[in-house]
Amino acid sequence: MDYAMLPTRTSEPPNAAQPVLRLRGLRTQFQLEDGVVNAVEEVDLEIGRGETLAVVGESGCGKSVMARSVLGLVDRPGKIMAGQVWVPAPPPREPGERRLGFRARREEARRAKVLPDAPPGMIDLATAEPELVRGVRGKRIAMVFQEPMTSLSMMHTIGNQIIEAITLHENLTKDQARQRAIDLLGRVGIPSPEQRIDAYPFQLSGGMRQRAMIAMALSCGPELLIADEPTTALDVTTQAQILELLTSLQDEFEMSIMLITHDLGVAAQLADRVAVMYLGRVVEQGELRRLFAEPRHPYTQALLRSVPKLGRDRNVRLAPVRGIVPHPYHRPSGCPFHDRCDSFIPGRCDTAPPPVITTDDGHQVRCVLYQEDSDDGHR
Ligand SMILES: Nc1ncnc2c1ncn2[C@@H]1O[C@H](COP(=O)(O)OP(=O)(O)O)[C@@H](O)[C@H]1O
Ligand SMILES: [Mg+2]
Repeated sequence: MDYAMLPTRTSEPPNAAQPVLRLRGLRTQFQLEDGVVNAVEEVDLEIGRGETLAVVGESGCGKSVMARSVLGLVDRPGKIMAGQVWVPAPPPREPGERRLGFRARREEARRAKVLPDAPPGMIDLATAEPELVRGVRGKRIAMVFQEPMTSLSMMHTIGNQIIEAITLHENLTKDQARQRAIDLLGRVGIPSPEQRIDAYPFQLSGGMRQRAMIAMALSCGPELLIADEPTTALDVTTQAQILELLTSLQDEFEMSIMLITHDLGVAAQLADRVAVMYLGRVVEQGELRRLFAEPRHPYTQALLRSVPKLGRDRNVRLAPVRGIVPHPYHRPSGCPFHDRCDSFIPGRCDTAPPPVITTDDGHQVRCVLYQEDSDDGHR
């Protein structure tokens, strides 16, 4: 196989110490006829180069909407209401030539005044020109979804879809793009890629379709791969293979990964850091081992109690998180988790949203139990 055809990094990032993604105060809302869904609220997140961040939480907690907000892919009538989506600025096309048009430059200048704290060398995708966002999507940040059928077209062969993705962003001939597509299909573990390249999605198994979608996502050598429940629809064996594949591709392509999963076992296998989301908010985030060994937010503690431990009898019924995720129109006041929380303090947790507490090791938790001046102290 000709590995020389695979995309490689040709230039060093503007600043290697910079994160590939930094979300600040991100808020995404759906204004529906019957009410407003605050799907994402004040989310602050960061993903470093080569790092894997797992985003975990029960279904309906805003993981997918957060990820789609990054790439401007939120379904209507969803809208980003506030916050920034910082990514490293694309390099100018040629020395001296700016990629941005006049309107974008004016917009940039305006923002520079409004946002004096803009990180150097980064642009805000939340307010960037659609053209700029399209340039980032697929090329520098790629996304794979739980159900490949939602992003693969039934009408075209997987090869043609990957070739299209490649030629959209890169100046290659059709033959070169086809060769790269074959290489990629081989890299993601599809047997006989020279033949399979001409298969239609429905001719492949679920696991093979997921591999084809990952190949498509990798086709332009993205800096960041956002994988939204990439293995949820697969059987356990195929799931393990896909997770292993992601790990080996990450090393090879030097990518960062945002891995969205409701399965803490999956997060434990891949992540360097974990962010726990509940009703649109990140309630806790920190380094994987620390967070698993010493979960602080009562929601994280409850989630971890619901995960089977290695060696524990599989027949023992695990305690699910008490209660259910409330209806999106009926968000509890104060801390949104208070009505399911074992440590609920009446008059406190149900009145004001808890502040974000950062502990000395950079671990963050949104809970009054960890407030320094708290009368209740640490638990
Ligand atoms: N297209 C949509 N229209 C209206 N509400 C939506 C839409 N997509 C998601 N939501 C709402 O946004 C919230 C977050 O959903 P989502 O991000 O899909 O959760 P998760 O991925 O964590 O399961 C939920 O309350 C969901 O009902
Ligand atoms: Mg989801």
